[in-house]
Amino acid sequence: MALRLGDEAPNFTANTTQGEINFHEWKGDSWAILFSHPKDFTPVCTTELGYTAKLADRFAGKNTKVLAVSVDSVEDHNAWTGDIEETQGVAVNFPIIGDTSREVAELYDMIHPNELATLTVRSVFIVGPDNKVKLTLTYPASTGRNFDEIDRVLDSLQLTAERPVATPVNWTPGDDVIISPALSDEEATEKFGEFVTHKPYLRTTTL
Ligand code: BEZ
Repeated sequence: MALRLGDEAPNFTANTTQGEINFHEWKGDSWAILFSHPKDFTPVCTTELGYTAKLADRFAGKNTKVLAVSVDSVEDHNAWTGDIEETQGVAVNFPIIGDTSREVAELYDMIHPNELATLTVRSVFIVGPDNKVKLTLTYPASTGRNFDEIDRVLDSLQLTAERPVATPVNWTPGDDVIISPALSDEEATEKFGEFVTHKPYLRTTTL
């Protein structure tokens, strides 16, 4: 069955471009973004991995590790990353799993045969420090993902893990947040000071 939010992210040991990795050990108590791409030496994937490499410092600053996977070999990944550096202007600075056995692809249900017979689709899993799945996302081969959006979701996940708030539509860091309906007005005042009550169930505050 497909992984669902709140499920434990399955552990695995895999060969990567940075050596063998045991996922849970490698991740430790960080957050992790595990994402699949369909195939090395393909155009959309080349842009995605290049852009993700550009964001790697930002993710590291958020205690978040990045791990890519496809069913290609580590040797192919190593050959391809030269092309990514050449065309995207950035060295790939995170490990890429060579999942030729499809162990990771199957554990995370990344092969959707009615979309691509034998290749992984564009899956994303954000995994929390507790190793639980916090976000799943699936895109087809033809559509490159928006990694700025993945970064935005990460910001929301990290904020809402720490504070009794939720983030509204199109929220970005610095915008007002929604106070958890579980908090009474008295508790909300205690935690946030001033807030605006638009409806009893919709109260916002500036952090
Ligand atoms: C691409 O990255 O462009 C791609 C990969 C697999 C199938 C189709 C497109």
